[in-house]
Amino acid sequence: MIRLWAWRAAAWSLGLLPLALGLKSILQGRLGANPVEFVEHFTGDWTLRLLLATLAMTPLRMLTGLTEPIRVRRILGLWTFAFLCLHFLTYLVFDLSFSMTQLAEDLVKRTYITLGFTAWLLLLALALTSTVGWQRRLKRRWITLHRLIYPAALLGAIHYLWLVKADTREPLIYLSILLVLLGFRLPWQRLMGRQRARASAKVDP
Ligand code: HEM
Repeated sequence: MIRLWAWRAAAWSLGLLPLALGLKSILQGRLGANPVEFVEHFTGDWTLRLLLATLAMTPLRMLTGLTEPIRVRRILGLWTFAFLCLHFLTYLVFDLSFSMTQLAEDLVKRTYITLGFTAWLLLLALALTSTVGWQRRLKRRWITLHRLIYPAALLGAIHYLWLVKADTREPLIYLSILLVLLGFRLPWQRLMGRQRARASAKVDP
């Protein structure tokens, strides 16, 4: 129980600390020459970091056998979505002044906006159905639906790679970490599939 409490506190801190740091920079006016760019980059970076932290919970459980990582996954996922909404809102308010025509134009003309926006739509669906009520209503389909986090994460990482003009090292590091985390799922899935098949063969020879 104490261990779960500690994991929950760590997951909340992972969201609250960057939020506090961002607010501190705003209040102290330390946003550099281009404040909008600062907020856009700050929230974009933290969306990606939190997304990777969320996806790291399953491998962590596989490697350690602990159940707590899975139990704090939802907290991390919702923090990811909160930062993503701040990221999207900064762009909508300060870059576009809420112009839906401009948004439609950007969606057609700028590939990195199309990629980011698609990721936002996917993660919106996951955030809305993240409750226990939706989990009960959708049953096994809930698991299938929540696998959308994988394409969403890939779209987010490629969005970053696409918008960077010169030095691609940082987005490539994020993309590599993501691919390693996603790679963990492949042998695990196969092993689980075989175990399930063996179990059902015992019941129904
Ligand atoms: C999962 C989804 C997303 C992730 C992970 C993400 C991540 C990022 C990252 C890491 C950056 C660059 C930060 C840096 O240079 O330090 C960035 C920049 C940016 N993102 Fe996103 N983003 C996402 C979705 C979106 C959406 C939905 C929009 C708007 C429709 C958007 C608009 C932008 C803009 C305008 C920039 C700044 C581009 C520039 O400075 O030239 N992003 N994003």
